Amino acid sequence: MCGIIGYSGHRPAVPVIMEGLRRLEYRGYDSSGVCFVRNRELQVIRAEGKLNNLEDKLADMDISLATAGLGHTRWATHGAPTENNAHPHVSFTRNLAIVHNGIIENYREWKDFLLDKGYLFFSETDTEVLANLIADEQAGGLSLLRAFAAALEKASGTYAVALLSTEEPDTIYAARHSAPLLIGAGAGEHFAASDIPAFLPYTRDVVFLEDGEIARITPLRAEVFSMADLKPVPKTLTRIEWDLQAAQKGGYKHFMLKEIFEQPRVVADCIAGRADTKRNAVRMPELEGFPVPSRLRIAACGTSWHAGLWAQSLMEGWSGIPTTVETASEFRYRNALPVPGECLLVISQSGETADTLAALRLVKEQGIATLGICNVIGSSIAREADAVVLTQAGPEISVASTKAMTAQMTVLMLTALYWGRKRGSLDREITARALAELSDIPARLTGLLPTLESEAAGLAARFAACKSMFFLGRGQSFPLALEGALKVKELSYIHAEGYASGEMKHGPIALIDPCFPSFFLMPYDAHFAKTMSNLEEVAARKGPVVALTNPPKDGMELRVGESWLLPEAWGPLCAFFMLPALQLFSYKAAAFLGKDVDQPRNLAKSVTVE
Ligand code: AGP
Repeated sequence: MCGIIGYSGHRPAVPVIMEGLRRLEYRGYDSSGVCFVRNRELQVIRAEGKLNNLEDKLADMDISLATAGLGHTRWATHGAPTENNAHPHVSFTRNLAIVHNGIIENYREWKDFLLDKGYLFFSETDTEVLANLIADEQAGGLSLLRAFAAALEKASGTYAVALLSTEEPDTIYAARHSAPLLIGAGAGEHFAASDIPAFLPYTRDVVFLEDGEIARITPLRAEVFSMADLKPVPKTLTRIEWDLQAAQKGGYKHFMLKEIFEQPRVVADCIAGRADTKRNAVRMPELEGFPVPSRLRIAACGTSWHAGLWAQSLMEGWSGIPTTVETASEFRYRNALPVPGECLLVISQSGETADTLAALRLVKEQGIATLGICNVIGSSIAREADAVVLTQAGPEISVASTKAMTAQMTVLMLTALYWGRKRGSLDREITARALAELSDIPARLTGLLPTLESEAAGLAARFAACKSMFFLGRGQSFPLALEGALKVKELSYIHAEGYASGEMKHGPIALIDPCFPSFFLMPYDAHFAKTMSNLEEVAARKGPVVALTNPPKDGMELRVGESWLLPEAWGPLCAFFMLPALQLFSYKAAAFLGKDVDQPRNLAKSVTVE
């Protein structure tokens, strides 16, 4: 998630902007930049890496006279994290600069259009295309406000964008679509920013922009217009009472909770540009030049390993590719025999996990094709794999991985569909149903999360005193059971075991007693009846049981124990409701026990050592 700040007021703009970018650092970034107007010319200073590199460049510049400007920290999605791709981006006409957060999905077609008109480009970014689209509208005679609106109407995708021009050097324009952007209203100064922390020390009075609105700010005025007809839109000020740290968490108590609630957006961003429900097609440009493997090995660690296990049946069922899944720490030492035409798929949020990286390097030496699914562009795995699919979940700050797994499952589903269609092993009805159901997940999950949170809190309070608990499931619910147990272990420090529920009879059921609860993951799927039997065997031995299941129908209902009801979802998509429920249960248990939720003891966010 990129960070945006625009300022127009009575102070020197650049120090205010740099301070604001520092308070947006928690969003994660790999390059940054600022721009302002001096002597009616745009001054644009950008740097790779951390803000110190940008500050070094600014140290020798005369920045005192500019009282308006833009700043940006970039989390690279299109184009490598280089200075050349850093924002702000200037139009070819050099009269306007923009900073942008989001993805312009149709930038390629507009870039071709503009190239045909003689525009030149100097970066790989979609943002530079938008800057030139605005300039082109201006060249057609439109005012800057109208040109901004006209260009945004042509852009499809997600954006929060702010603009500065040489014609109006103390005016910032800003607009948003599906990416946050807000206006800070101060005394003789105004701000446009992607998040409240950027200007919190200067003002607590905020106007939240909505999709389809354009803001125009100067030192003394902040106006909002409807993009459709440029009519003024009345807005109210909201008073923010948060402290800075709470603001960086978006008002959530912990980054983990914030990241759990970001999951609808994460799924939407993962499928954007990839899931084409109209054409019943899946676009994976990262895989176009990558050979469809004859056999797939998946290697990963922790939560990422659970995502791989969850995808195994999809890879085999939808793409028809024989698939095995292992922990990277085991795979790298067992002298696995390479098979011609196979592929190693490594899954890693950080892209730096030592065991996963070692597995990748091992098979590369054997001449095996390697594919990475990563959340951090420019990470070792992202750079060293033959191909990489970025999950674009935005930086995951909390040590406990949550939204990354949801993003990984989404990308794995799309990959199984993509390869299945390429191999002709998947009928069109399955693709159509999968894409349609997946496209509904963001809205359904948005509506569900608040209920899940309060239900999780009640359950967690009841079971937080337990010394041990089971999480049990069959089929694709088994990897989710492993994940549920991992989350409880790493967050609340309670011993929890994830197990295939069919295995209980083979020993573990000896552990059951009234203080040893079992959580059964049992959506209405082919395994429901068998898992019900396992649940009844546990209940018969006085073990407390809780079933994460769907509302009763057609006689499929619990005969013993209690239920935590989740909405039904088609096939594998039930995981997109089950997983957040498990995440919230572990979160609430940890919070109830007063644990350090975002930084659990003994854990690191990325295990870069063996
Ligand atoms: C997940 O909550 C853990 N923090 C941990 O298991 C993590 O998933 C594992 O270390 C793998 O990390 P990666 O996805 O960055 O490779």
